[in-house]
Amino acid sequence: MNILLLGYGKMGKIIGEIAESRGHLIAGKINIENSEELNSLDPKSIDVAIEFSQPDAAFENISWAINRKIPVVSGTTGWLDKKPSIEALALEKKTAFFYASNFSVGVNIFFRINRFLAGLMKDQNDYSVSMEEIHHTEKKDNPSGTAITLAEAIIEENPNIRNWKSADESSKVENSLVITSKRIDPAPGTHIVRYQSEIDDIEISHTAYSRKGFALGAVLVAEWIKDKNGVLTMDEFLSF
Ligand SMILES: NC(=O)c1ccc[n+]([C@@H]2O[C@H](COP(=O)([O-])OP(=O)(O)OC[C@H]3O[C@@H](n4cnc5c(N)ncnc54)[C@H](O)[C@@H]3O)[C@@H](O)[C@H]2O)c1
Repeated sequence: MNILLLGYGKMGKIIGEIAESRGHLIAGKINIENSEELNSLDPKSIDVAIEFSQPDAAFENISWAINRKIPVVSGTTGWLDKKPSIEALALEKKTAFFYASNFSVGVNIFFRINRFLAGLMKDQNDYSVSMEEIHHTEKKDNPSGTAITLAEAIIEENPNIRNWKSADESSKVENSLVITSKRIDPAPGTHIVRYQSEIDDIEISHTAYSRKGFALGAVLVAEWIKDKNGVLTMDEFLSF
């Protein structure tokens, strides 16, 4: 398979290594400095684009590929207000678009546990829920995309929680889930969901030891979506 890497930073480099170790060819390694190289690529020679760039670049990168009917696997966080228009474009162009805020299998199992626990806790009014996420200091968005996915599931399962807010926001909103973001090197990603009462705490957490799990997940998804169409998700990929 010929893979185009849109974004060749920390994630793009590991994805490239894993893809090559699985027998794939890298058709291009695009960064902010060499993005004009896109013009010299033959879109027909590219089977899938894997996009891990930056919040302000994701929409343009993904649109470039989808407009050329190249299936896209995207993991960039912090640009999701524009995701619905990308999904519509993928349907219009009859190609595939796959987004996950987190490509690690372990985190996706953690997502399931989080949703199950949120359902159990919805009538337990003595507990308040909060979240903490820890990432390296170069991370641009805050809170993490993974934390937002966790928070959205809790809000869906528990009608008492109306929204989420960052711990550094000064406004006090009743029934909000507060997310505390810490930036400490070299943390690749820790997420903790905590239910606290006067009597006890219940806590679930996931800690990534490296970026390998995210990168391998992205390559496996790229192999899976190559000949598919439409907007696809991690739940479908993992058959959850
Ligand atoms: N979904 C997941 O599982 C997952 C896991 C880890 C990281 N991420 C996210 O992936 C993204 C990338 O993470 P990273 O650690 O590799 O970041 P990074 O800063 O190391 O790399 C980002 C790269 O994007 C490039 N870039 C910027 N503008 C560009 C443009 N216009 N066109 C092409 N490339 C451009 C930069 O040159 C840089 O090399 C972040 O949003 C991060 O939050 C997601």
